[in-house]
Amino acid sequence: MNKVALVTGAARGIGLATTELFLAAGWQVAMIDRDVPALDSAAAPLEGAHAFYCDVSDPGEVAQMVAQVTAHFGRIDALVNNAGVADFGPIEETDFQRWRTVMATNLDGPFLVTQACTPALRATKGAIVNIASISGLRASTLRVAYGTSKAAVIQLTKQQAAELGEYGIRANCVCPGPVRTKLAMAVHTQEIIDAYHDAIPLNRYGSEREIAEVIVFLCSEKASYVTGQVVAADGGFDSTGVGLPALRR
Ligand SMILES: NC(=O)c1ccc[n+]([C@@H]2O[C@H](COP(=O)([O-])OP(=O)(O)OC[C@H]3O[C@@H](n4cnc5c(N)ncnc54)[C@H](O)[C@@H]3O)[C@@H](O)[C@H]2O)c1
Repeated sequence: MNKVALVTGAARGIGLATTELFLAAGWQVAMIDRDVPALDSAAAPLEGAHAFYCDVSDPGEVAQMVAQVTAHFGRIDALVNNAGVADFGPIEETDFQRWRTVMATNLDGPFLVTQACTPALRATKGAIVNIASISGLRASTLRVAYGTSKAAVIQLTKQQAAELGEYGIRANCVCPGPVRTKLAMAVHTQEIIDAYHDAIPLNRYGSEREIAEVIVFLCSEKASYVTGQVVAADGGFDSTGVGLPALRR
């Protein structure tokens, strides 16, 4: 029987690329998103995929969605907590509502969806991949909510690995560097794009596919003894301490 991956935020960007790669590898995919028209049009041409509407920050919707996915597919072998929102702003302008909006999707979402999927993942000795960010590994200005939410996702992954390992469930975290998705382009000005190119050893943004390759690998049998790990797919950004353009040859 084909394995089943549940991918949140699957209507576009990294989640859609991950869905396509799972399908190419012979998996079936439960595509989860709250953007109904975008999810419908993304899922329509994809054989082996099925769309489920859900806001991952809402406990009731999450419980209902996971019940629908298990009723439809009968199993869940991998969970990719990818749905995320970005909101960059100075600390003094990040009011509580902006903070909560970021935390609700980026942190509450992976907590809730993982908890709801745990019985199904126990049955398959499945895998979890949480999508954090280089912003969770390195601090910068304007990311008090986003960066903190992603650092928390890194720790959440380790908690999940520590506790769910006993059931044979693996949990790992992927930290993408900048990728030209709708999320990134909404908060990256041309100045930010140029600065990233300067600071990243590979001198460029990543592609959705390059991030998806790491996610699908970590969900696969090839990574069967890998758990609790944080993998940056970031062109080397995290490894560079003093990335000053002036120090380049
Ligand atoms: N693009 C980048 O540069 C970058 C860098 C580092 C990390 N990331 C992370 O990668 C993940 C995917 O980002 P992307 O760039 O593909 O973004 P994107 O905006 O292109 O896609 C995100 C998808 O998630 C969905 N979504 C958002 N909130 C949701 C919710 N509460 N419930 C259900 N669906 C929801 C959106 O509708 C959208 O379809 C995010 O967690 C993001 O933080 C992205």
